[in-house]
Amino acid sequence: MRYLLYFILVFVAITAAVFGLVGLPGHLSRKPPLEVFPDMDRQAKLRPAQPNGFFANGLSSQLPPEGTVVRSAPVATAEGAVYAYQDVAFNTGRATGSTNFVETNPMTVDAAFLGRGRTQYDISCAPCHGALGDGNGITKKIGVMPAVANLHDQRLVEMTDGEIFNTITHGKGLMGAYGPMVAAEDRWAIVAYTRALQLSRLGMPEELSAEQRAALKK
Ligand code: HEC
Repeated sequence: MRYLLYFILVFVAITAAVFGLVGLPGHLSRKPPLEVFPDMDRQAKLRPAQPNGFFANGLSSQLPPEGTVVRSAPVATAEGAVYAYQDVAFNTGRATGSTNFVETNPMTVDAAFLGRGRTQYDISCAPCHGALGDGNGITKKIGVMPAVANLHDQRLVEMTDGEIFNTITHGKGLMGAYGPMVAAEDRWAIVAYTRALQLSRLGMPEELSAEQRAALKK
């Protein structure tokens, strides 16, 4: 009997202590909640663009340190420097101020750019479209993506660079969008490399030099 009494007393005392500390449910308080671990909720900081004595020039927002790449840096294209927000072919695949796809790649296509396109193609596209672009990638082999477009189809050979860029950016049918994962510059490099893949099956012997033709005959 006595123990029961002790128990009840201790129970009431603990209950009172708990409610005293954390408050009643639904009870509004202007006091900040109890913080056992404050994490990093409050810490010393500098407000943006406010003068302070921390940096030598008195500003809390500093220019990026030398050698770093700014996320929103302009990209050098054949049409000049382009920012990501601009309505130009480099970003959209369409002629500025219209919905028409551009015919040709706005980047200067050289061997280095094609090499970049090959690397990016092998990473992002080859799993489905195959290393040769014929639609025989690993996903077809294991049966998870049965109907993948053959990039050598006449329709896709005749398609404008801008529309291919648009397909890579936004996806099509079962194909997902690669815009969020592959930088615009690399998407154009992929377009250029796709053209190289297509040309590899459309080239004529007459287009080769005499030496190349001789090497081919061997
Ligand atoms: C996960 C598999 C997959 C990947 C990866 C993939 N594709 Fe596709 N792609 C498809 C499928 C499936 C289609 C057919 C879509 C349809 O018509 O429904 C297609 C269609 C296309 C087409 C034709 C679109 C049209 O107008 O008919 C092009 C061009 C293309 N892909 C290029 C690319 C390029 C370039 C990449 C790499 C950035 C890529 N794809 C990555 C699965 C993929």
